[in-house]
Amino acid sequence: MGLDIFDLTGKVAMVTGSTRGLGEVEAMALAKAGADVAVCGRVEDDLKRVSGAIRDLGRDSAGFFLEATSKESIHECVDGVLQNFGRVDILVNNTGTNHRVPALGFPEDKWDLIINTNLKSYYLVAQAVVPQMIERGYGKVINISSIVGQVAIINQLAYGSAKGGVNEMTRIMALEWAKSGVRVNAIAPTYFETDMVKQIRDDPERFKFINERTPMGRWGKLHELEGIVIFMAAPASDFITGQIICIDGGWTAC
Ligand SMILES: NC(=O)c1ccc[n+]([C@@H]2O[C@H](COP(=O)([O-])OP(=O)(O)OC[C@H]3O[C@@H](n4cnc5c(N)ncnc54)[C@H](OP(=O)(O)O)[C@@H]3O)[C@@H](O)[C@H]2O)c1
Repeated sequence: MGLDIFDLTGKVAMVTGSTRGLGEVEAMALAKAGADVAVCGRVEDDLKRVSGAIRDLGRDSAGFFLEATSKESIHECVDGVLQNFGRVDILVNNTGTNHRVPALGFPEDKWDLIINTNLKSYYLVAQAVVPQMIERGYGKVINISSIVGQVAIINQLAYGSAKGGVNEMTRIMALEWAKSGVRVNAIAPTYFETDMVKQIRDDPERFKFINERTPMGRWGKLHELEGIVIFMAAPASDFITGQIICIDGGWTAC
């Protein structure tokens, strides 16, 4: 058995929210493994920067505008990706945002924003992308969840609710599409240093809490996400579906 079970050459991946943070790492990882990648997000300079970095690796790549809270924008984005690449073999639903305040004062507009960005968009993007996977009898959907989908952390009412929803959505999609060759799994990271968690990284008490709460005693390093993304996208994981894979230094083991 060779390492070609991890080879993504000739596959087309679409990664939502890949203009920075974990999504950028995921897009680059898939490209390093051989995939052509559609970079999706809102900021034109970042779309150009990330897709340019992928082309520098010798893969095909282009940037596509996506406002994940708009169904119309999702459909325009998916249409653009399908027109440009002809198909999508690997979909990574990654867009996310957060707002951390106690439950009793949680603002309704932030609830709607987080649920729409972190949960609703995942099903709308999948609905638009998966039919052409089913037609070909093969596809991989990877939903980016969080350990907060399984463990409760204070001040994350909407975010935790969305990520818990992503986990259940993952299992339901996996069951419905299992016989069509479309695998659906979620990756649930602990804390990795990105813009989203800067507020926590800059709070010495919260930073210490996370290190102490994690059996391995630290946050994740961005490059440590690459292996699991490639594995879940590659033929190596073809008999895995409906799973939530935590990458968390042992947090959810205890
Ligand atoms: N970092 C962590 O510790 C951590 C832990 C567990 C799970 N996660 C999950 O990992 C994913 C990425 O998070 P991150 O830490 O990389 O966050 P980030 O650095 O804030 O990046 C978020 C990405 O999502 C995009 N995005 C946000 N709202 C969007 C919208 N309405 N429409 C289109 N794109 C939108 C952003 O694009 P713009 O530049 O246009 O805003 C950006 O590309 C999220 O699902 C998050 O919940 C992160």
